[in-house]
Amino acid sequence: MASASIDATLSAAIDADTSTEEILLAATNHDLDALRKLFRTYDAKVQDSDTGFSPLHAAIASCEPDEHVQDETGMNGEGDAINGHALSEQSALATVQLLFENGAIWNELDNNDDTPGCLALRLGLSKVYDAIVDAGVRAELLFSRLDDYELLPDEPVDGEDGTHDDDHHDDDDIIGFEPAPKRNEPLPRNTNGPVLTNPNVNSEDYLRSNLTYSADRLLDSDKNAVMMDWETEIMKISANKLCPKPGLRTMNVGFGMGIVDTMFLANSPAEHHIVEAHPQVIERMREKGWFEKPNVRIHQGKWQDVLPKLIAEGVELDAMYYDTYAEDYSDLKLFFDEYVIALLGTHGLFGFYNGLGADRQVCYDVYTKVVEFHLDEAGLDVEWMDIDVPDLAGRGEWEGVRRPYWANIKTYRLPTCKFLG
Ligand SMILES: C[S@@+](CC[C@H](N)C(=O)[O-])C[C@H]1O[C@@H](n2cnc3c(N)ncnc32)[C@H](O)[C@@H]1O
Repeated sequence: MASASIDATLSAAIDADTSTEEILLAATNHDLDALRKLFRTYDAKVQDSDTGFSPLHAAIASCEPDEHVQDETGMNGEGDAINGHALSEQSALATVQLLFENGAIWNELDNNDDTPGCLALRLGLSKVYDAIVDAGVRAELLFSRLDDYELLPDEPVDGEDGTHDDDHHDDDDIIGFEPAPKRNEPLPRNTNGPVLTNPNVNSEDYLRSNLTYSADRLLDSDKNAVMMDWETEIMKISANKLCPKPGLRTMNVGFGMGIVDTMFLANSPAEHHIVEAHPQVIERMREKGWFEKPNVRIHQGKWQDVLPKLIAEGVELDAMYYDTYAEDYSDLKLFFDEYVIALLGTHGLFGFYNGLGADRQVCYDVYTKVVEFHLDEAGLDVEWMDIDVPDLAGRGEWEGVRRPYWANIKTYRLPTCKFLG
């Protein structure tokens, strides 16, 4: 490389380091004027190389009372972060809002695996936390729109030449968002662990993998929990809400350990459909006599292949439950956008396993709102029921499981949906 070019590269690197430090320092001090000046040239998508702090982390961490530094009154006072005084939530809120306007990413992880929302929650900064949840909802809704848009490959949209305007596709250009594959994408069951810890788990691999059944759990070949016995209470309440009286026509998608199906049958449906795609699970169903149970119709295969046939057959249902594994949020969305609407009668009820983003509270809160928004768009009204999650770690539930999928979330939000109006 020529020396002029090396000089230019070095000076660009030094410039980037300096601007990162300046942005983080201004965010730490809630110095809005300094930030506004910096954002004329740079954006808020920077991270400290030692701590992994983004400007959002820095602005929030400055509100932490420093036990060693006290003001004249003997209390932790408000002041400036540089001198060790905790700053106010109000100035943190203004800073966080400015950072979001300038490209800050709501779910960026620091080196402790904390998002800014995790810090705000720990410090009890409820207004800042709410602002982060709102930003997260906006970001995820926009991403979901972009995903929909990319599903239309050849349709002329912008130009008359039939090509898309690239501006619409470049996620990096959207203030506050990362490109979709990199973000913590909270999903119905892959928030059970696999996708965040092992992004290689996908539906196809899972459906070919070897499963292990034991008394209280079903594990995939990587020891990720597909289903666990502790979820029985959730399954029982879900089935009772969806099928509160005998004689209804019900469907469950994803058999797993058969817990929810057992609960449905306890309420004597007139017909109960089970859709299951994994050959080993189907084998298990055969061994346990599910194929001989009265009023039960088992459909072998992926719901994506099975349900169009049932629609063509004219099947109509009173209740549908969705709880699959290694599928993502877009699958759940497709399920209620297309299939719930086609198969459920006007007064029918729809429920799903709500593990969306359950690896941390802020993602769970964001995805509860995202799914509520999308359900509403699909013409479905959702009613949430809060259920206490037991102390799973304390009970040793995660022993032998690759990764806990309910981490620090104390309340399960159980959805029951019906058609609006
Ligand atoms: C979490 S378990 C369901 C647990 C169930 N709710 C219970 O009470 O035991 C998920 C199930 O969905 C199945 N599954 C995954 N993808 C599927 C698909 N596309 N179609 C049908 N079943 C699927 C898995 O094989 C697994 O048996």
